[in-house]
Amino acid sequence: AVLCLVFMVMGNNNPGTTLHLKEIFIGRCWDYKEIKHKEFPLRTDVNCNDLWNDFYKAFSYQAPCDVAMEHYKEYIDLASQNVPENKGMFWSGTYDIAHEYAEAGKRFVTLEDTMIGFLANSLIWCGSGSTGANFTRCPSWTDCPLESSESFWASASREFASSVNGDVYLMLDGSRKDKPAYSKDSFFSKYELPALENVNKIVIIVKHNLDGPIKETCSNGSIIDLQEDILNRGFVFNCLDDPAAIIHLLCADDPEARECKMVN
Ligand code: APR
Repeated sequence: AVLCLVFMVMGNNNPGTTLHLKEIFIGRCWDYKEIKHKEFPLRTDVNCNDLWNDFYKAFSYQAPCDVAMEHYKEYIDLASQNVPENKGMFWSGTYDIAHEYAEAGKRFVTLEDTMIGFLANSLIWCGSGSTGANFTRCPSWTDCPLESSESFWASASREFASSVNGDVYLMLDGSRKDKPAYSKDSFFSKYELPALENVNKIVIIVKHNLDGPIKETCSNGSIIDLQEDILNRGFVFNCLDDPAAIIHLLCADDPEARECKMVN
């Protein structure tokens, strides 16, 4: 029973900073520069050690709940790049399928395909007053308002939105259970929509689980609020419920589903 209790307490603890954070970050940087994303207009002069130093400086030796978005400014300025026209893709509640569809920048470019997001994606980090980074435990995003990685993703999202242009894409989940498909407290609503500049049209893609439920669509629920917000900002939109490309991707994982057996 004691062992069980210890396990439960440990299980509830958030993990600390990713081990070998620096090596992963710098290795990803070289990978990005030399191999992965040569087709993107990258700044060839970007120095991976400088990027790491700016990133680390933003949160290290500091309380993990007191890192303002502005702390990441130097890193973001140094790593910023333009996203090719008509390629930008945003997502809310659709991390897996949006990235599958984007195909690492080949079809669309998400924040996590840009250098700013690529170097940090899926990593955990937070500061410690004495040792720089805390490798034992980091607060979660919801534990405090200025949590170090939430501030990072907020400023990265704002920067990403200001660097896309032409037609942009937003994938939403019309079967989402925890929240409406479009919610005012999402990163998309708070940091991305307000930062869009050189955009013509927002193409909203609403996906539903193959087995439902169809909670919201292009013509009901919170997606109507989104369409109003888009028009109020002076952009136009196009909204697609379950386009064939998304159904095909979902069917790759569940070929026996009823929707996947219909021959077009
Ligand atoms: N990796 C892991 N988690 C992330 C990332 C990321 N790259 N970016 C954001 N998060 C976290 C945040 O906690 C966020 O609240 O995942 C949550 C995603 O919440 P969603 O409701 O799915 O969507 P949203 O809040 O709109 O955030 C995603 O913001 O980061 C940008 O370009 C990104 O358009 C995307 C949107």
